[in-house]
Amino acid sequence: MDNYELLVYEDLQSLARACAQMVLEASQQAVKAGRKFTIALSGGNTPATLFKTLAAEPYSTQMPWASTCVFWGDERCVPLYDENNNAHNAIELLLSRVNIPPENIFRIPVNLPPAKAAEQYENELKAFFETNPPQFDVILLGLGNDGHTASLFPASAALKEKNRLVLANYLHGPNVFRITLTYPVINAAHKIVFMVSGKTKSTILKSVLQDNKKQYPAQVIQPEHGKLIWMVDKDAAQDLQAV
Ligand code: 6PG
Repeated sequence: MDNYELLVYEDLQSLARACAQMVLEASQQAVKAGRKFTIALSGGNTPATLFKTLAAEPYSTQMPWASTCVFWGDERCVPLYDENNNAHNAIELLLSRVNIPPENIFRIPVNLPPAKAAEQYENELKAFFETNPPQFDVILLGLGNDGHTASLFPASAALKEKNRLVLANYLHGPNVFRITLTYPVINAAHKIVFMVSGKTKSTILKSVLQDNKKQYPAQVIQPEHGKLIWMVDKDAAQDLQAV
């Protein structure tokens, strides 16, 4: 994998602070350009520290929340109140604690059947963004130990999607549906930012960044026009060869 910036931090706390600063600066650029700041949040556990950082000073007051529009890169097909729901956690840790207008929060409607949820979210993206595919200012991503990102899992149908913006992706192992943004949307973003933390991710991070033998879904994240940034902590980076 090439054409990316790798930033290594002492620990998750300092990674989250740096990511919060990057989000703030990107939001200020968008507002200065006279438009809304659009960000798609990642799911899973890693972003929790970032959410807490953004919910605290100085970000809680410095962020232009009234001009910030929050979306999700993917969602589990579990009820909106379920603690495994990505939006539930972001709202709990961040969005319920800052002055963001409710109409600026675009949850993936997993109360609908998966295909309907994907279709409705896709229509919301098409209605909100002027460009096709939508160009987010920032898309945050995590990295799974199988090399998945968002809900683009190995051997899943969504990996082949070149036109749809949002898909209901069936995962054969756990026999569940996930709703996910597709590569065309993610790769159109101005800034694509992976946050990877912990020793348990060191092997997959090395494979994704430095092994070209096997292709992982995360390796297909290649920005069309924007920047790809890997923000990782030292534990996750422990196996990377110095280049
Ligand atoms: C999800 C995610 C997923 C996640 C990775 C890493 O809904 O689970 O969007 O892609 O980012 O699985 O998850 P952790 O941060 O929990 O390791």
